[in-house]
Amino acid sequence: MSPAVDRRDLLKLLAAGSLAGPAVAAAQLAAAPAARAAPGIVKPLPPEVFTVRGTNAETRTDAFRGTGLLTPADRFFVRNHTATPRLSERDWKLTVWGSGLRGRRAVEFDYARLRSLPSVTRTAVVECAGNGRSYFASQQGEPVSGTPWTLGAIGAARWRGVRLRDVLERAGASPSAVAVMPRGLDDEFVTDGVNLGRVRRPLPLAKAVDDVILAYEMNGEPLPYDHGFPVRVVVPSWIGIASVKWVGDIEVSETPLDSPWTTRFYRLFGAGHPPEGSAPLTRQTLKSAFELAPGAQLPAGREHLLTGRAWSAAAPVRQVEVSVDGGAHWQTARLCDVPRRDGWVRWAVPWRPERTGPVHLLSRTTDRAGNTQPVRSAHNTQGYLFDAVVRHQVTVT
Ligand code: MTE
Repeated sequence: MSPAVDRRDLLKLLAAGSLAGPAVAAAQLAAAPAARAAPGIVKPLPPEVFTVRGTNAETRTDAFRGTGLLTPADRFFVRNHTATPRLSERDWKLTVWGSGLRGRRAVEFDYARLRSLPSVTRTAVVECAGNGRSYFASQQGEPVSGTPWTLGAIGAARWRGVRLRDVLERAGASPSAVAVMPRGLDDEFVTDGVNLGRVRRPLPLAKAVDDVILAYEMNGEPLPYDHGFPVRVVVPSWIGIASVKWVGDIEVSETPLDSPWTTRFYRLFGAGHPPEGSAPLTRQTLKSAFELAPGAQLPAGREHLLTGRAWSAAAPVRQVEVSVDGGAHWQTARLCDVPRRDGWVRWAVPWRPERTGPVHLLSRTTDRAGNTQPVRSAHNTQGYLFDAVVRHQVTVT
C-alpha cells in the first residue's frame, strides 16, 4: 500500500462506496503511488493537479496553465461536506414542494422530463466562499476556521441545463412565493456531534428566477459524479455553497427560509459584525492568481512568461496589474481573453529576472464596477470572501 495513504483513508474510501472493493482499491493505489486519496471523491486526484484537504480537493493553480478558459472536469476542484454519492439518472427525480406552490401540491420531474424542457448553456465559475482562506493566517496573521484553501477552490465550466424559472413555472409556483431551497441527496452532514441534515441553502425567488440553472452537463459531457451527477444547481456569481450538487428536492415557500448554511455558516462573524453574524453571504468577491507552484524556481537571465487568471463576481475584469518586486512597482498585464461576466480571464506578463534569490510576485485585479483587490482583506472568523492581493513567493536561481 502506498505510504501516503493510510489505513483510515482506505477504510473511509470503502465506506463511502468510492471503490468497488479491496482488490480495486489496491490496484488504484498501486497505479498512483504518490496520490493521496480524499475520502469520498470518485475521480483520480493526481498530486500534480490536486491538493487533498480533508473531504475536498483543491486544484493547484499551476495546473490551470494551458487549460484554456474552461476548467476540464478532471482538474475541477471538489468541495464535499460528506462524500460523493453515485446516483443513477434512472432512479433520480426532483420533487418541488412547499407552501409557495398553487394548491401546495408537490410536483415531480424525472430525468427524461427535465431533459425534455428547453435547455440553456452558459459559462460560469463556481468558487468556494472560503477560496483564499489560508492567507488570512499566512499573510495577515489572523486565525480563521475552515478548509485552508489557497487560490484553487475555483473552476470555470460551460454548464447546460434548464432554467430554474421554467421548472418553477411548470411546478405551479404561486405569485406569493418568496424563496426556494434546493437540497442535495448526499449524506447528512454531522459536525461537532450535531446532525445538520442534508446540504441545503435558500435562494430568494428574485435570484432563483433570474439566472439560476439546473445543470446536467459540464463542458459538453454529463456531469461527473463528483460535480453533482445527474443534476446540480448553478447559481452564477454567488458563493459556491449556493450551487447545490445532486439536487433531489426544492422547497418553494411563501415565507423566507433559513438553513444552517445561512445561519451558522456563510455569514461574516467576528469583530465589526453583529453577534448573529452579517446577512447571509450571496455574491463572491474578486481575486487573481499566478499559474505557478508555490516556491517555484525560475532561472535568472532568461525571459519567463508569467501567466495567471483574474476574476470578479461583480463585473467583468477591467485590468490586471503585476508586481515582480514585492509591490514597489506595478505593470499592466496583457489580457488574453475578452472579459465577461461570471467568467475569468487569462493574463500574461513577460519577466526577465536578473538577480537570484527569493522574490514575491503580486497580481491585482480591478473590475469594471471599480473594485480593486486591497492590500488586506477584512477579517471574519470563518475566513470567507478573501479578496486581498496574494504575495506569491518564488526563487530566482
Ligand atoms: N452540494 C451538496 N449537495 N453537497 C456539498 O457538499 N458543496 C458546496 C456546493 N454544493 C456541496 C454542494 C460547496 S461549499 C461548493 S464550493 C460547491 O458545491 C463546489 O462544487 P464542486 O465540488 O463541483 O467544485
